[in-house]
Amino acid sequence: MESMSEPRDRWMTASWLAACLGLAALVTTGPAWAATDIEAGRRTYESVCAVCHGATGRPDPGNPVVQAFDPQPADLSDPLFNSREPAGDWELVVAHGGHALGLSPQMPAQGEVLTGQQVRDVVAYVKTLVDTSGYPPGEMNFFLPVRTKKAFPEDEVVWKSRYSGQDGDDEIRNVLEFEKRIGKRGQVLLEVVHEDDGVDSEIAEVEIGYKHALAWSLEKGSILSGAIVLAIPTDGDEPEEVIPYLAYGRQLSDEWVFQGSARAILPTDDAGDGELELAGVVHYQWTPWPRHVFGGLEFTAVTPFDDDGGDRVKFTVVPQLRIGLTRGGHVALNLGVELPLSDQSYDYRAHLNLLWDFADGSFFKGW
Ligand code: HEC
Repeated sequence: MESMSEPRDRWMTASWLAACLGLAALVTTGPAWAATDIEAGRRTYESVCAVCHGATGRPDPGNPVVQAFDPQPADLSDPLFNSREPAGDWELVVAHGGHALGLSPQMPAQGEVLTGQQVRDVVAYVKTLVDTSGYPPGEMNFFLPVRTKKAFPEDEVVWKSRYSGQDGDDEIRNVLEFEKRIGKRGQVLLEVVHEDDGVDSEIAEVEIGYKHALAWSLEKGSILSGAIVLAIPTDGDEPEEVIPYLAYGRQLSDEWVFQGSARAILPTDDAGDGELELAGVVHYQWTPWPRHVFGGLEFTAVTPFDDDGGDRVKFTVVPQLRIGLTRGGHVALNLGVELPLSDQSYDYRAHLNLLWDFADGSFFKGW
């Protein structure tokens, strides 16, 4: 088999590199954020919005208009809240009303009264109500990929289910993941991994970790994070693993988004036994409305550090769909099929992820 696999591996390496180069070429464009006039936005805010949202963005609890709202309008001058919501989402809310994104209809649609430019200006002004420079902007909160690690720190619960089709002994792996933001740019995570191979069905592993947004640029539409995860197997005979990774995201153009990550998986008893995993994905975001189906194409490459056993880089491709379920997209499905491009222990893997961004409200809101 050796003589067969060598040219094929080389071909795979070449196509992987070609894909990366193609992406690099796209990277030069960046997002084309529309120009805005903050001063015009301030005037609109004061005449239209301040009556409900307060002059500073914090609704006045003594105001009977405000008291009548259920739920209360959020505090737009809270830097965490202000930074985490992308301006594009707020433009939809302002133009089409709260209902359009699953929020309260008491937030009125202004699309008949304000022009598209006035909507962009007033949202740009709202973004200046508080200094959010220490917080990663919500514009960089890209879709969760199937395999690539995400850079943006989140408040999220994700259920990840993976079905591996392989000769005779299919396997199901379920992961429940809890992510919570801490501080301005940090996030902790907890994962419980359950495995069922038809013989044993057990909690196989628990993972704890911390992610930190290292750098970002709203102009370039990019974000870089570093993280470290400790994986603790429940079987005491197996080694723990330390998994440091870097995750990068970049808006390539108005419609295309690239995300990539590099993970080192290091068994604590012998780090030399570990492996390096590279993953990259592009998503096509053809509409700003979250409740739609979005396609993505992902590649992974895994290589052991110690390759004298003849092991080589293993590649997979993962075509996938992101399906926004709620009007605001805070509950979404992620479906993908992972296909080996080189020898793997499995024939295919079906991935199903259900995610709930709990910072945007209850699971049942906005369906
Ligand atoms: C009649 C009162 C009223 C007016 C006028 C109003 N809003 Fe609102 N707004 C609300 C309420 C109530 C909510 C809370 C909706 C919810 O959380 O379900 C809200 C929510 C919002 C949100 C938060 C969306 C989110 O992600 O949670 C933004 C941003 C916003 N309004 C901006 C504006 C801007 C800008 C204007 C002026 C162009 C404006 N609003 C005018 C009542 C109003």
